[in-house]
Amino acid sequence: MSETTADSTAATHDGPTTPGRRGAAHDSAFLRACRHEPVPHTPVWFMRQAGRSLPEYLKVREGIPMLESCMRPELVKEITLQPVRRHKVDAAIFFSDIVVPLKAVGIDVDIKPGIGPVIADPIRTAEDLKRLRPLEPDDVPYITEAVGLLVDELGETPLIGFAGAPYTLASYLIEGGPSKNHENTKAMMYGQPELWAALVDRLADITSAFLKVQIEAGASAVQLFDSWVGALAPDDYRRSVMPSSTKVFDAVAGYGVPRIHFGVGTGELLGLMGQAGADIVGVDWRVPLNVAAERVGQGKGLQGNLDPAVLYAPTKVVETKAREVLHAAQALGTSGHIFNLGHGVLPSMDPDALSRLVAFVHEASAR
Ligand code: CP3
Repeated sequence: MSETTADSTAATHDGPTTPGRRGAAHDSAFLRACRHEPVPHTPVWFMRQAGRSLPEYLKVREGIPMLESCMRPELVKEITLQPVRRHKVDAAIFFSDIVVPLKAVGIDVDIKPGIGPVIADPIRTAEDLKRLRPLEPDDVPYITEAVGLLVDELGETPLIGFAGAPYTLASYLIEGGPSKNHENTKAMMYGQPELWAALVDRLADITSAFLKVQIEAGASAVQLFDSWVGALAPDDYRRSVMPSSTKVFDAVAGYGVPRIHFGVGTGELLGLMGQAGADIVGVDWRVPLNVAAERVGQGKGLQGNLDPAVLYAPTKVVETKAREVLHAAQALGTSGHIFNLGHGVLPSMDPDALSRLVAFVHEASAR
């Protein structure tokens, strides 16, 4: 089916899963679970499964800076496929980074090994904000190409597209890099609420455009990473962050692809993050899934939530803890759970432990 046909369904709010390129993955365990349909087994994938701990990743990345790797479609395809081949996970996550759309609109950002994203000139004033222009599909031709290559190659395995949410992107732009206390971010949020609102609104548009590019090229689902929003109290989230995240979810609602939302330390925000427009709420390891199910309410799926550090314990312990996650997820009913870690794969993790975990989840949840 042509892309034009796929696009024409995009206008329908709550429409069916868009046909077209992603059609081959329609009946995958991952997408069935997203739709709360019966599944042969609980689907599993890992945040940050691409790269990091895989020797084959380190090999193909040798000598190529992180952001440059994200702009080479063949390399993106290879890195995205590596964990699918190796671990037999139920979904691929697109290899890119949350700062790629910022780079694409001309922000001077680099990803420094061992540190993370570093912004040369942080955005802290109304004058600075003028530098943040909208994202056009033509800014990211390499994303369209890489997603297309991947969807052709993945066949029945769904591809998850992703973007950083406005709060997390704002925190990098304002702080200039990773931050523990988010003091400059919060100073703007509390002290210059109008500037803050304008910034996160502009980021919502950039994020929406970036997700649309991935969906239109064939991504089967999207995840909005609000990794650092757990730094906020619920009232501040509701007032200062939720409108911009809602704008992103609304912007892609018409495609009918499942929308996942995740942040670390967001136990107190889970209900609001669901209300922002997510179909599936990602949960870190601090809140058991049966409790999370009560917080997000009926009709939403859950993703998570094994503590990544458990992977360093003996296999028997990993299995016991994984079984506890599956058990807690039964609170959702028969479907609607996607197994994942409570945060990303760690660089020092044993890849074999991850492969064993995938096999175990498939076996222990077979129905
Ligand atoms: O599964 C995947 O790895 C898919 C690709 C992916 C990357 N970043 C690649 C990457 C995804 C989904 C991300 C998202 C991302 N990037 C988030 C949200 C996820 C989360 O952790 O909650 C955030 C906050 C970022 C920003 C960022 N980029 C950080 C904090 C870092 C880590 C720096 C470090 O050294 O640990 C990066 C760099 C980065 N992004 C790497 C990869 C594979 C490592 C850099 C490298 O390999 O050189």
